[in-house]
Amino acid sequence: MTLKEKINKLRKEKNAVILAHYYQDAEIQDIADYVGDSLGLSQQAANTDAEIIVFAGVHFMAETAKILSPDKTVVLPDLEAGCSLADSCPAEAFKEFTDTHPNHTVITYVNCSAEVKALTDIVCTSSNALKIVESIPKDKPIIFAPDKNLGKYITSQTGREMLLWDGSCVVHEAFSLEKLLDLHKKHPDFIIIAHPESEEHIINVASYVGSTAGMINYVKEHSDKSFIVATEAGILYKMQQEVPNTELIPAPAKEDNTCACSECAYMKVNTMEKLYNCLLHESPKIEVSKNIREKALVPIERMLALSK
Ligand code: 13P
Ligand code: SF4
Repeated sequence: MTLKEKINKLRKEKNAVILAHYYQDAEIQDIADYVGDSLGLSQQAANTDAEIIVFAGVHFMAETAKILSPDKTVVLPDLEAGCSLADSCPAEAFKEFTDTHPNHTVITYVNCSAEVKALTDIVCTSSNALKIVESIPKDKPIIFAPDKNLGKYITSQTGREMLLWDGSCVVHEAFSLEKLLDLHKKHPDFIIIAHPESEEHIINVASYVGSTAGMINYVKEHSDKSFIVATEAGILYKMQQEVPNTELIPAPAKEDNTCACSECAYMKVNTMEKLYNCLLHESPKIEVSKNIREKALVPIERMLALSK
């Protein structure tokens, strides 16, 4: 049997669902029951009837699934699948920060640990961050963490000043403005689209800014155009499937690398082999202590209620 056949057999026997993020390798996206952005994945995790959730993504995503579905077994193909943004916000330091600003509403981007979510009033993802920030009364000061780039983007759209945590994503900070503008000069008809984790100077030259799912939808709605895509390169696989006749070019990274684009090393530690093994052995399992889970669930549920 091929690895794919073995995974298919096992997932039926075990009543497992495979959830994958758009940044996963193509073969993982192909075998998944659902491929989506952070919001879509957490909505799937909250509503699935499966007994096992195989989370082909990174740790904070699987942890969010476990918080939403504590009675289910949640496995991640490789525990090393972390996130630079989540790592940039250790819970202890964040607690000191929030304690120093007690009157603030604390909004955290879903790319953070369960411990940080437990210190939060409301969670957001890149697809609903504007809506979540706008749901907070105007006279209420806001702490926004951990992504300063997303925070700055929201301020530019809403005029809402917020106290920003100094975190960022290594992948989205790797884009080169100079190379991007050079590329655009060569292809002036191409539309630049960007993920809001990108730096301000990249966002400023983009015609559309949105989550991974938002970017795919935008391209689908304008499939007669061509695009330069500033986010992790894994998205191009699903995007191209959706618009087979549309030209897509990944935005260039600062450092020369083999694909001249940006890849998330954390996302890419997951492989088909590891996916099979984690389903077979039901390990590594994601666990969240009851105390943290109960506190972290509240701001996640608030977000989901506002995202229907
Ligand atoms: P999305 O929610 O847009 O898929 O973003 C997740 C992420 O980690 C982007 O780097
Ligand atoms: Fe984290 Fe950036 Fe990778 Fe997304 S692309 S998982 S924010 S390191």
